Amino acid sequence: MSTPSSSHTSLKDYYRWHARIYDLTRWAFLFGRARIIALAASQMDPPARILEIGCGTGRNLAALARRFPLAQITGLDLSSDMLERAQCKVQAFGSRIGLLHRAYDAPVAMADKFDLIVLSYSLSMINPGFAEVLRICTSDLSPTGIIAVVDFHASRWSWFQRWMGVNHVRMEGHLLEELNQHFTGQVCQVQRAYGNLWQYLLFIGRAGSKGRQ
Ligand SMILES: C[S@@+](CC[C@H](N)C(=O)[O-])C[C@H]1O[C@@H](n2cnc3c(N)ncnc32)[C@H](O)[C@@H]1O
Repeated sequence: MSTPSSSHTSLKDYYRWHARIYDLTRWAFLFGRARIIALAASQMDPPARILEIGCGTGRNLAALARRFPLAQITGLDLSSDMLERAQCKVQAFGSRIGLLHRAYDAPVAMADKFDLIVLSYSLSMINPGFAEVLRICTSDLSPTGIIAVVDFHASRWSWFQRWMGVNHVRMEGHLLEELNQHFTGQVCQVQRAYGNLWQYLLFIGRAGSKGRQ
C-alpha cells in the first residue's frame, strides 16, 4: 500500500468524529442506497463475489448479504472508525463478509475477480483520485462483472456545493462523464432530492465504454 495522501488523512480525521453520528444522520440525505442494490440484482445473475469500496459503517454490506445469500462479500474502507461500526453489523454473517482496512489505491482481487463492485457515496469523496479508482475497478471486475454506483451528482446552488465541499464531497456532475469513459451503462438515472436542492445518480455498468468497444 502506498503512503497515505493528505486527502486520505483528512478523510480519516473527518470520520473519526462523524462515525459516531453516521447511521443516525445519513438516512436523511444518502438516498438510493437500497435502490442501487435492487437495481444491481435486476441486471445480473446472483454474484459469487462482491466488493464495496468505501463500505463505511457496513449498512450496504448487510443489505448485500441478505439480498445475495450465497455471495462472498468484501468491504474496504480507509477509516478504522467507520470499520469498527461495520464490524458490529457484519458479525451475524460470519466469514461471508470480510473487511479490509486500506485505501482503494490498487486492485484487491488476486485470482478471483469480483462479479459486483459497489460504490455508494464514496466516489464523490475521492478527490483527487476518482478517475484512478474507476480505472482500478476495471481490473478488479470479472469479464462479466458489473459496477453499481449511487452518489451525489450535482447541485445548481453554489452555496450548497461549497457546503458539501466542506464535508469533502465534490458535486459538480463530474462522475457520470468518468463512469461513461470506463463502463457501458445498463442503468443511468439522475434523481432529485429535496425539490432539486441537489441530484444524485444511480449507475449500473459493465466494463468497457461504448466509445472504446
Ligand atoms: C459517505 S461514506 C459512504 C459509506 C457507505 N458506502 C454508505 O453508503 O453508507 C464514504 C466512505 O468512503 C470511505 N473512503 C473515502 N475514500 C476512500 C478511499 N480512497 N479508499 C477507501 N475508502 C474510502 C470513507 O472512509 C467513508 O467511510
